Amino acid sequence: MIRVWIPAERSPSERRVAATPDTTRRLGDKGCAVAIESGAGQQAGYGDDSFAASGAEILPAGAAEGWEQADVVLTVAPPRLEADGGPGHVERLRAGSLLMGLLEPYQNRPLIERLSSQGVSALALELLPRISRAQTMDALSSQANIAGYKAVLLAAAELDRFFPMLMTAAGTVQPAKVVVLGAGVAGLQAVATARRLGAVVKVSDVRPAAKEQVESLGARFIDPPERDAPGEAGGYAREAGLAFLEAQRQQLAVHLAEADAVITTALVPGRPAPLLITEQMLAVMRPGSVVVDLAVGQGGNVAGSQADTTVDIGGVRVIGAGQLPASVPQHASALYARNVSALLEQLLIDDLLTITPEDPLLDPCLITHAGTCRRLDLWPALVEVAA
Ligand code: NAI
Repeated sequence: MIRVWIPAERSPSERRVAATPDTTRRLGDKGCAVAIESGAGQQAGYGDDSFAASGAEILPAGAAEGWEQADVVLTVAPPRLEADGGPGHVERLRAGSLLMGLLEPYQNRPLIERLSSQGVSALALELLPRISRAQTMDALSSQANIAGYKAVLLAAAELDRFFPMLMTAAGTVQPAKVVVLGAGVAGLQAVATARRLGAVVKVSDVRPAAKEQVESLGARFIDPPERDAPGEAGGYAREAGLAFLEAQRQQLAVHLAEADAVITTALVPGRPAPLLITEQMLAVMRPGSVVVDLAVGQGGNVAGSQADTTVDIGGVRVIGAGQLPASVPQHASALYARNVSALLEQLLIDDLLTITPEDPLLDPCLITHAGTCRRLDLWPALVEVAA
């Protein structure tokens, strides 16, 4: 029987959990024995009782045995090594076991090398390929959707104006003007949410394919500068060059000057987020307007934005929103748990955990396996040394 372990997340700001009673039951039906650390689901609204009722074994908080006995560990955030202040549990994982989660592979080389040296296989959900087979497992999308929604609510709560147009006996209030930078999953959900609240929305993205999606949501697309446009690869934007970014910023400054709220979501996988709003651009914005920077964890799209903090820059409220999925923990966990269990179910064949590295689903996201780091390309400097 395959033993699946769900530890409590260690970061105080991480309120999500990698399983729910629903996914626990499903994994049980597939022949897994699920154990969960006591209190792991508490902040997401899933108490120990509900996990026990769905067939999970509840182990005491802090117990190392869950890690020692696990065939599979499901986490949301990457577990911390003892050297980085963790409780030393990762180091107890057995060779041949499997760790699955949002492992932040670009930033977590020491963890990944440690997992590799222990013979632990690791699946980083961020690196799942965008193939139709992987759609039910797409944790980046399920979580980005939540971030886009919540970003607009934060902006609306902070803004000194209404979002919708209101016609009242005391006069007519014009709708808020919202600019969204980046029309990926988070950006499109931000557009949809802002539109539902009645705002007038404009959107910038470097991928030409985004235009149709933006317009179908009733927003206006700001066509990117044509010269040196970065284009896309594998559904993601390529990194833009300096000349393009400068031209894009000049173009955006005009729209920002009129905006009440700006939501920035622009990302390029594995690279620092493009700086789209400089201090000079903030200076042309109306005092009282709001900027929510969802890219703050990757360096930020906005000069001066700080993670999990609101800063006032010349009267503009800049919200560095790096943890928004964790702020909607029940639904974020429900969707994430379904993503991760859908991926695990693909690996359960005849009651055995079967990892086929060359499977196109696993190949890009299986970062360690059988004592090898399989994605040295994530750290270009290492490739140069190895070559
Ligand atoms: P992402 O999180 O990597 O980046 C967010 C957005 O920022 C992207 O739309 C990107 O083009 C944009 N961006 C990058 N540099 C920019 C710049 N300088 N200025 C303005 N925008 C910039 O993107 P995400 O959410 O992963 O979505 C990318 C595409 O992949 C979307 O079309 C999405 O619908 C699609 N997608 C496909 C899936 C599948 O096939 N299974 C699953 C999820 C998304």
